[in-house]
Amino acid sequence: MEIDIELSESMEKWADSVEFQESYNLLLSDVIIIVSYSNDLSFIESVLQDISVNKSITEYVKDLEYGQSKHFNFVLNNKLKEIIIVSAGNKNAITKSDVEKLGGYIYPQIETNNAKVAIVNNIETIDLEDAAASITSGIILKSWTFDKYFTKKNTCKVQSITCVTNYVKPNEYRYKTLLSIDDCVLNVRSMVTEPANVMNSEKIKDIAKDLKEIGVEVRIIDQKEMAKMGMNALLGVNKGSDNPPYTIVMEYINGEDDGNIIALVGKGVTFDAGGICLKPANRMSEMKGDMTGAAVVLNTIKSLALQKSKVNVIGAIGLVENVISSSAQRPGDVVQAMSGTTIEVDNTDAEGRLVLADVLWHVQERYGPKVVIDFATLTGAIQVALGHEFAGYMSNSDELSQHLEKASRNVGEKLWRLPLHNSYEPDIKSEIADIKNVGCGRGAGSITAAMFLQHFIKKATKWAHIDIAATEWDSKDRALSQKGATGFGVRLMNEFIKNFFSR
Ligand code: BES
Ligand code: MG
Ligand code: ZN
Repeated sequence: MEIDIELSESMEKWADSVEFQESYNLLLSDVIIIVSYSNDLSFIESVLQDISVNKSITEYVKDLEYGQSKHFNFVLNNKLKEIIIVSAGNKNAITKSDVEKLGGYIYPQIETNNAKVAIVNNIETIDLEDAAASITSGIILKSWTFDKYFTKKNTCKVQSITCVTNYVKPNEYRYKTLLSIDDCVLNVRSMVTEPANVMNSEKIKDIAKDLKEIGVEVRIIDQKEMAKMGMNALLGVNKGSDNPPYTIVMEYINGEDDGNIIALVGKGVTFDAGGICLKPANRMSEMKGDMTGAAVVLNTIKSLALQKSKVNVIGAIGLVENVISSSAQRPGDVVQAMSGTTIEVDNTDAEGRLVLADVLWHVQERYGPKVVIDFATLTGAIQVALGHEFAGYMSNSDELSQHLEKASRNVGEKLWRLPLHNSYEPDIKSEIADIKNVGCGRGAGSITAAMFLQHFIKKATKWAHIDIAATEWDSKDRALSQKGATGFGVRLMNEFIKNFFSR
């Protein structure tokens, strides 16, 4: 079969430097990595025997726990060789996402060597074909850094990776698919890391437009048209900015014509200074990442289109900038959203929900999707509740929640459901309009934000709001990313959508 999944230049480079061999002389490599269950010493011994290394070193690795590793050196023909034994933990407990993370643990141990690396593994409890590919994917995700603006680049030094698969080669189509999804994850990270003077609404519009080339219908709704449509909640947020606001809808319709449509909605605040309710200067720069939801939605659509998935998915993003000028929206202003609901803007820094309100309403009106999922860096409160480990989500559907959590477990992007309950409704009651855009300061900031959004969700729509404010970025290294942007969400949505349309 012809495999024509398009990869970016940097991903092509990776694809070229990784090869899969069913049998291979390990001694041709400088670094030999043995990924093995701790309780399968015989596998490690057999590999060591192949390269004539004393088996007794297994003594030092039998107690390793999942993700831990030990290094050994030996000299062959005057050349120093390295063996790294990495534990995959217990045979019964390991999942595909655990295997991928092992790649993430391996990468820092090889990144500075200008080396030829060989990897052997005995993971057969997940899909046989996929273990080597998953390890590779973990290595690639972990290796990403953003060095565009350094005049001196610190490029990855690994020469080549040979994955020795004792069983079968990975299915090339599936492998390429995996890489194309990873590519889109890394693209989210780039978009999020780019400063706001570069990644502004025009730039994101241009990136979205490019999706036309891979079979996505792209509708660009500009300020004038949004005003006609009555998207005043969104437009109010951009009033202080000289950058034009856009709503961009990406239609990827390639599945059965059975009325099953999923809509993904993303918050695209290209910079969130807080507006007149100005944020403190300390770490305000991080608010260049307030368009992560939009980047996740755009790149999920891109990844589906690259794979030519047989699915029907609409991606919609609202692009604005929340900054100050004399024309900026004021605290206390009242706007009427496209749905007709009136909103008191009690706090100009709670802008994301104002943007989402109109974009959510528009996609429901126009496409009647069965399922709507929105991604937004919506509240600082979600970090207080869950830290950087779990994204918080709220949903009006138990069924949708179950599907989301299943996908979440499969890819290792963790989700935790918080209540969406009427008892929080009085919190957003306004004295002057239908609702106001912040709670009464009694806590539950992430939930009251979702309660607000629910006003713009139709009864028949199964909806989930995923607050990624704390999972999109981490100040420390994670299993599959270095400190900084994570790209959380693209893998989750690929898995969810694939499962949804193959039910
Ligand atoms: N974009 C922020 C939320 C955020 C905070 C994202 C930290 C990433 C890291 C959002 O627009 C915001 O400012 N939310 C306010 C809401 C409050 C005014 C009710 C917040 O969380 O403080
Ligand atoms: Mg804000
Ligand atoms: Zn924001």
